[in-house]
Amino acid sequence: MNDGEGIPQLGFGVCAISQDGTAPAVEAALEAGYRHIDTATIYKNERQVGEAVRASGIAREDVFVTTKLWNTDQGRDSALEACEKSLELLGMDYVDLYLIHWAQPGQAKYRESWESLLELRERGLVKSVGVSNFTSSQLDEIIADTGVTPVVNQIETHPFFNQAQQRAENAARSILTEAWSPLGQGSALEHPDLVAIAQVHDATVAQIIVAWHLAAGSVVIPKSQTPQRIASNLDALKVTLTAQDIELIDSLTRADGRLGGDPAVGDLGAPFYSDRPGVMQK
Ligand SMILES: NC(=O)c1ccc[n+]([C@@H]2O[C@H](COP(=O)([O-])OP(=O)(O)OC[C@H]3O[C@@H](n4cnc5c(N)ncnc54)[C@H](OP(=O)(O)O)[C@@H]3O)[C@@H](O)[C@H]2O)c1
Repeated sequence: MNDGEGIPQLGFGVCAISQDGTAPAVEAALEAGYRHIDTATIYKNERQVGEAVRASGIAREDVFVTTKLWNTDQGRDSALEACEKSLELLGMDYVDLYLIHWAQPGQAKYRESWESLLELRERGLVKSVGVSNFTSSQLDEIIADTGVTPVVNQIETHPFFNQAQQRAENAARSILTEAWSPLGQGSALEHPDLVAIAQVHDATVAQIIVAWHLAAGSVVIPKSQTPQRIASNLDALKVTLTAQDIELIDSLTRADGRLGGDPAVGDLGAPFYSDRPGVMQK
């Protein structure tokens, strides 16, 4: 990342996994070999993520843990308090990466929230600081304000919404793209072109899609609660796509492919978006 810290390129997302289901899923992921877990305050499972990391017996410094500042906690002091609360729930002294979850331009607090993230980094509570769901102009504002560039911009990215332009704009700023909902929340798994590519590689469609993200240089965090899928998704690291495969998958993007919210909009007066399109909250 642009601050010199490393990040495992293939991680494990835990959005929408119930509190009871989280520890078993994270334990399965760590057992399979993942060393990067992506949670958030709004997922309400930080405590269970921390429990699973401790139960694994893997040293804390060998697991990369991300959590995120939720929209209603944005603001100078509230962001500091929210991070401290997340650490308490995780039972950890620090997180490897702390993200502003959504810019939420309507409430106009992301600039002061970014300053709080820098303070948290200064205090050693977070190692690296980044954002999620930021447009390029929002990125440029916080960079101009502070001189500090987020290490990642975590954005919705999958074959039906490939974000080629935002990925290029992130890269131009030395910001890594992290792909959320990388499998299109499962919707991309039956596309006939992807099924055909999977057959040629003797791989699953999920492995093909994850390999496509990896080839693009994105960090990718597929979610699954199914132990066999958790393990097999990690084997995407062994799949090498051809330039033709990549070109075909790139061509599947479409203007209406977005599943979640648009980072350019959103405030607390309008419906604001959780990580589940079906769970928009007032
Ligand atoms: N920053 C943000 O705003 C934001 C928003 C959304 C998500 N995220 C992050 O991104 C992560 C991933 O996104 P996501 O959870 O929305 O969706 P996703 O990873 O694109 O898809 C998850 C879905 O695909 C299924 N699946 C996974 N592997 C599979 C396989 N090998 N074969 C068949 N089905 C498979 C899962 O089913 P089972 O679980 O039943 O196996 C689940 O229904 C989240 O967990 C979260 O960490 C961030």
